[in-house]
Amino acid sequence: MSSQSLDAQLESAALPQHIAVIMDGNGRWAKARGKARVFGHKAGVKAVRKTVKAASELGVKALTLFAFSSENWRRPEDEVSVLMELFISVLSREVKRLNKNGVQLRVIGDTSRFNPSLQQKIAEAEALTAGNERLVLNIAANYGGQWDITQAARRVAEQVAAGQLQASDITEQDIARQLMLSDLPDVDLMIRTSGECRISNFILWQAAYAELYFTEQYWPDFNEQSLFDAVAWYVNRSLWWSPLSFICLFPRLLR
Ligand code: IPE
Ligand code: IPE
Ligand code: MG
Repeated sequence: MSSQSLDAQLESAALPQHIAVIMDGNGRWAKARGKARVFGHKAGVKAVRKTVKAASELGVKALTLFAFSSENWRRPEDEVSVLMELFISVLSREVKRLNKNGVQLRVIGDTSRFNPSLQQKIAEAEALTAGNERLVLNIAANYGGQWDITQAARRVAEQVAAGQLQASDITEQDIARQLMLSDLPDVDLMIRTSGECRISNFILWQAAYAELYFTEQYWPDFNEQSLFDAVAWYVNRSLWWSPLSFICLFPRLLR
């Protein structure tokens, strides 16, 4: 679908407010070219740049990218260290441009396991961009959906231990408030590249009602048009899956 016809559709449709992406297939992309997996990861950075640009153009509120899962530590040491180096160099290189474009950068996950210089870079990037409002870009690094729910449960347990809350009074909202991204809208659209049809322990709680979009494209081949295609698919579904959605959209259409 061309982005022009997408624009026309979007005028009268509900955009996803929060898009989450499982960026998968870097290794296979490289292998298909007879190269080491690392080349795939490097090429994947370009796809990140294109996706952020496209999300920003579309006007979605939040984009969350899965960069490194809690389980990815099990990969060979060499690959893990290349990924960490890549993360540091990309952060250093891109943060000024992101800031100029009104992007608020956040890193979600257990960053305490990262080396101190990476933690420092993350803190600086978050502080620099904290006031930006055009797009919230969350990079999930050493993140796992189960880890997120566990750390939220731990905090709620602390409230109980401190006598601020009764165990029998714990509500879903009490848990939700302690999750990463608790201040953002729930995930509307979750995209996974490379033909795999799993969630791989990415966002679980806030993706309870997400539409799941799977594409065969390997992550390094993902571009602006790929995101527009996914959003067009979402818009069509959210408009027509039930008459209720139309009623809910009606006030928006009148604006
Ligand atoms: C996704 O690509 C990137 C990360 C998980 C860091 P993969 O490295 O998983 O690539 P494949 O799935 O082996 O092709
Ligand atoms: C999921 O991809 C994690 C990221 C994209 C960072 P993986 O390639 O690590 O997932 P599995 O192991 O195939 O489920
Ligand atoms: Mg993979």
